[in-house]
Amino acid sequence: MKKITKAVFPVAGLGSRFLPATKVSPKEMMPVVDKPLIQYAVEEAVAAGITDMVFITGRHKRAIEDHFDMAYEVEMELAARGKHALLRELQSVIPPQVNCIYIRQHEPLGLGHAVLCAQPVVQEEAFAVILADDLIDAEPPVTKQMVDIFALHQCSLLGVQEVPRSQTGHYGIVSTTPLAPGLEQVHGLVEKPRPEDAPSTLAVVGRYILTPGIFHHLAQQQAGSGGEIQLTDGISALLHEERLLAYRFSGTRYDCGSKLGYLKAQVAFGLKHAELHEEFSAYLATRH
Ligand code: UTP
Repeated sequence: MKKITKAVFPVAGLGSRFLPATKVSPKEMMPVVDKPLIQYAVEEAVAAGITDMVFITGRHKRAIEDHFDMAYEVEMELAARGKHALLRELQSVIPPQVNCIYIRQHEPLGLGHAVLCAQPVVQEEAFAVILADDLIDAEPPVTKQMVDIFALHQCSLLGVQEVPRSQTGHYGIVSTTPLAPGLEQVHGLVEKPRPEDAPSTLAVVGRYILTPGIFHHLAQQQAGSGGEIQLTDGISALLHEERLLAYRFSGTRYDCGSKLGYLKAQVAFGLKHAELHEEFSAYLATRH
């Protein structure tokens, strides 16, 4: 029985939709209330029992490595000022059993290429891919939900969600037949179809469990839609050889790669933040 122990976090994209904020600092370090997006993603992996975090980084991504490292000066300062709760919170960012591994993607050649960069570490294991800019508020956390399904079915699995037909051009879209509640057998997958061509409105969002069979397809692939090596094209090729499932996860997804999605996440997480809940909801009420 195979178990998922590794998560890949592709964080080497340009983040062009958030320029100039992302000119020198990574999109994945943008905070939602008080935590950067990448920390939510890593916490989700930890909650799924994953112990090896593989970050695919690029230029201007040093801040991510620093974030998951010790911060001696800040920690000493907090200790000296007796701010022990904050100190404990800072020190628990990465639990002791967790390893962080950084691999450089020298050019942003696409999400598929970023995932391929993880092959030397992942090797022959099934692994999770988590896109930090898809922030998913779920209980249990969505990667845990998917790891549990993998434990039963032992095959690749895509996190999917219904989207309005007008938006199919932003996603990989699957064609499926139902298998069990929330679970579907995938027959086809197309990248960014026009609404009139889309086989369904079931979109792949930033959570995947993939078998290592994906790597040789990604390695053979030519640049596809948008001049990039697309993960979707690699998964489509895998589909000819292996069983692939789509999972309609339970939870709310915020597309923090877009400005509107990011603002919605700030409001939702602000409203449920222990310190802010009351004042923030009173403030929002005055805005109606
Ligand atoms: P996006 O499609 O959101 O691209 O990538 P992006 O560059 O981050 O943002 P925009 O579209 O220019 O605003 C989805 C995920 O894949 C990663 C990104 O970091 C993001 O987490 N990615 C994308 C890579 O790691 N490498 C790439 O070459 C492309």
